[in-house]
Amino acid sequence: MNKLNDTDYGTPQRESATSVTLEIDGVSITVPAGTSVMRASTEAGINVPKLCATDSLEAFGSCRVCLVEIEGRKGYPASCTTPVENGMKVKTQTPKLADIRRGMMELYISDHPLDCLTCPTNGNCELQDVAGLVGLREVRYGYQGKNHLDLKKDESNPYFTYDASKCIVCNRCVRACEETQGTFALTIDGRGFDSRVAAGQNDSFMESDCVSCGACVQACPTATLTEKSVIMMGQAEHSKITTCAYCGVGCAFKAEMKGNEVVRMVPWKDGKANHGHSCVKGRFAWGYATHKDRMLKPMIRKKITDPWQEVSWEEAIGYAASEFRRIQDKHGRDSIGGITSSRCTNEEVYLVQKLVRAAFGNNNVDTCARVCHSPTGYGLKQTLGESAGTQTFDSVMHADVIMVIGANPAVAHPVFASQMKRRLRQGAKLIVVDPRTTEMVKSPHVQADYHLKLKPGTNVAIISALAHVVVTEGLCSEAYIAERCDAQSFKDWKEFVSRPENSPEALAEVTGVPAETVRSAARLYATGGNAAIYYGLGVTEHAQGSTMVMGIANLAMATGNVGREGVGVNPLRGQNNVQGSCDMGSFPHELPGYRHISDSIARAEFEARWGVTLNPEPGLRIPNMFDAALDGSFMGLYCQGEDIVQSDPNTQHVASALSAMECIVVQDLFLNETAKYAHVFLPGSSFLEKDGTFTNAERRISRVSKVMPAKAGYSDWEVTQLLANALGYAMNYSHPSEIMDEIASLTPTFHGVTFKKIEQLGSVQWPCNDAAPEGTPIMHIDTFVRGKGKFFITQYVPTTEKITRKFPLILTTGRILSQYNVGAQTRRTENVQWHSEDRLEIHPHDAEERGIHQDDWVGIESRSGQTVLRATITENVQPGVVYTTFHFPESGANVITTDNSDWATNCPEYKVTAVQVMPVTQHSEWQRDYQEFNRQQLELAHLESEAGGA
Ligand code: SF4
Ligand code: SF4
Ligand code: SF4
Ligand code: FES
Repeated sequence: MNKLNDTDYGTPQRESATSVTLEIDGVSITVPAGTSVMRASTEAGINVPKLCATDSLEAFGSCRVCLVEIEGRKGYPASCTTPVENGMKVKTQTPKLADIRRGMMELYISDHPLDCLTCPTNGNCELQDVAGLVGLREVRYGYQGKNHLDLKKDESNPYFTYDASKCIVCNRCVRACEETQGTFALTIDGRGFDSRVAAGQNDSFMESDCVSCGACVQACPTATLTEKSVIMMGQAEHSKITTCAYCGVGCAFKAEMKGNEVVRMVPWKDGKANHGHSCVKGRFAWGYATHKDRMLKPMIRKKITDPWQEVSWEEAIGYAASEFRRIQDKHGRDSIGGITSSRCTNEEVYLVQKLVRAAFGNNNVDTCARVCHSPTGYGLKQTLGESAGTQTFDSVMHADVIMVIGANPAVAHPVFASQMKRRLRQGAKLIVVDPRTTEMVKSPHVQADYHLKLKPGTNVAIISALAHVVVTEGLCSEAYIAERCDAQSFKDWKEFVSRPENSPEALAEVTGVPAETVRSAARLYATGGNAAIYYGLGVTEHAQGSTMVMGIANLAMATGNVGREGVGVNPLRGQNNVQGSCDMGSFPHELPGYRHISDSIARAEFEARWGVTLNPEPGLRIPNMFDAALDGSFMGLYCQGEDIVQSDPNTQHVASALSAMECIVVQDLFLNETAKYAHVFLPGSSFLEKDGTFTNAERRISRVSKVMPAKAGYSDWEVTQLLANALGYAMNYSHPSEIMDEIASLTPTFHGVTFKKIEQLGSVQWPCNDAAPEGTPIMHIDTFVRGKGKFFITQYVPTTEKITRKFPLILTTGRILSQYNVGAQTRRTENVQWHSEDRLEIHPHDAEERGIHQDDWVGIESRSGQTVLRATITENVQPGVVYTTFHFPESGANVITTDNSDWATNCPEYKVTAVQVMPVTQHSEWQRDYQEFNRQQLELAHLESEAGGA
């Protein structure tokens, strides 16, 4: 267990090569130059009272309770704003200081409700603490003067309350919103006595630009901004460090608990991915874990038209095992398979792929990374030699030029976006390559230097055009290339990109981006200092996703931007454990650690450890499983924590494939869309109910901690183990740490990883082995993992998904801040107050041409299917392009998307679908069928309705 409150040093840590030694209350202390007297005191174990200072924010110097005496200086300087000096002699406790501090506190308290006993932050309030510390005994001014005690509370935010009567105007919330979050939603309105915190133009928090990250709540030293969960439940009793289960940033949290109940999630200040910050999802949207829709009993049925029958764990597991063996006897060993989930822990994913390879006896295992970052794995392995991003998130603080391609971190990786924005405010330049005008292009204090607003599907043309400028204008890093890259491949690539057909001018019509913008962006990237590329699914989810990843790596190598701080090629991984699920051997052709299944040496190691003979042939990928199901050769599926019906493209094809199978086993928290086609339902466990690890986008392995017992009786890894044993393949782990020990012993890049080490260091980035016992923050430092960096020719091939008279618009898909992926979790939280339906964004010209008005219902039709959503008219999308999200099952965004996929990895081309959009008055046929099917399935499961269901 961790102590509830970490030490607050008052001001941020400084890094400096110069040390300063001073004396505080007779204690000598040496700190880096630039450190405040307050921080030096705290480091020396001397507590100076403070109210407006906290170590996550720059000092402000307004409350005056932190005054000290410094020998040889007049007056009483504020310790938070005074930097240390060599030989300085500081006194923090004198009768005069005590007097001044008491006086200041009297002023604060005379305008503060004296309701400590009933106040939600009683026992965890800095104002209360400081009053105690300075020995406040009376308030000479009385409580009857002009005050703010009658101010109304703002309860508009579903997660926190703003009680203005308790505000001491310390400005911490305003600075947190600016410095930590970068949203600039708060100001101090009014002057002197009238000054108060205001959201937006004196709006309510919900009406303002606030994105509910909670940084202000965390920074507030009083009960003014308080979590509603704390108001309801009181202060926590104990806490444990764990990791957010939403996105690939992998924020570390302290789960603050009362018994087995979460009181609040507080971002952990020592978390190396988030440094004490979070977004609305991780901090507040954890209520799904105890939502009434949780399915807590195992269930079975023979046909999907039969009612579900609740059974014991033994019976459900026994039935699943006997069905799998029956199917294999009838259709052959390869007729079943498994799908692992990037929402699950490394240990759980490892066990599922082990179950498939060792107990099913085939390699039919795939993961949801197939549909998001599989091109990253392929492209980076080919060019650089390792299927992972090259940097830490902190590296962005050393970048001079940031290029964001096909990603909107402000909504999909919010905590990293805040860090990136901090760097931009310090002056780094920004290039955004995106078909939409996202928050990264323009938002408070962010303005992209160049926005390459390309047509969807033309990424490879853009990367060739950028490379053309770099090569033909002599901007390559010749010495770096000569030393570190494969000469022949560079020569071939150089010749290729130099061709006139790859010039920005020649490609302008294809990409829609003016040649001069491309030229200027290329010059900035190549010559602006440290240049770092961050990219997302807008790069990978294309027919040429792998080509584009290789194109990005080519550009970075050609300009010498790989292998040190501030540069690199950084895939922004979508889900919490996408990196981990790939590392753990979830792909049908790779064992853990990306070793090919045909590699007899690697196979022999696993065979010896697992006591089985492994099939050297790769198994089926997810889309191949669907095709094989329709052919009648793939009949059984174990699907852990993944909703393929909602998340995979061409929903109707997926549904037909699942309907054709004889036994589908779904393990999940909820009766998700895939479970509606299942024959066995095994209750899943939330991240709060299990031990394990997640690996974030920086290759950082962090602990997930069990803070409450598994609600259905078992953690997910235990259920996989039961299934393996029922299939006759023995697994006997007693804790996930033993699974990690096995992973480490079989995976060279994980040889040094243990739970103990992760707990000691807080987290560890792989490779972690004898060569790097504490992990590897930055990869490819002196040489590339593959030896010489290899350039690949990236010929632009237009997608076959073409616009026509019938389908004249391009649909592209993405995410929104408050919802997550298929929405199974966030739809079951108050986050629906921000986003309760998927909308279709359309440009005013396209809307007008079709007679579409704001909020109208519109039908969207593609070659795959048809659905109906409400329209949002916005210039964020360009003419000819429409955009939607896929968080709600009934909107059926993936009914529209097609079977097109990346040539190398089959990653679906979610980002380009030719569509027509028209005003309509009723749901589409698919939606009507879906609603009926959904109603039947809920009835068969004896459920009335589901959050976000039809
Ligand atoms: S919750 Fe976040 S965005 Fe909203 S006001 Fe507070 S710091 Fe700003
Ligand atoms: S709301 Fe809290 S943090 Fe903000 S000014 Fe008031 S007391 Fe300070
Ligand atoms: S940024 Fe990602 S990991 Fe961090 S709190 Fe938000 S969802 Fe969780
Ligand atoms: S803590 Fe230093 S002036 Fe407020």
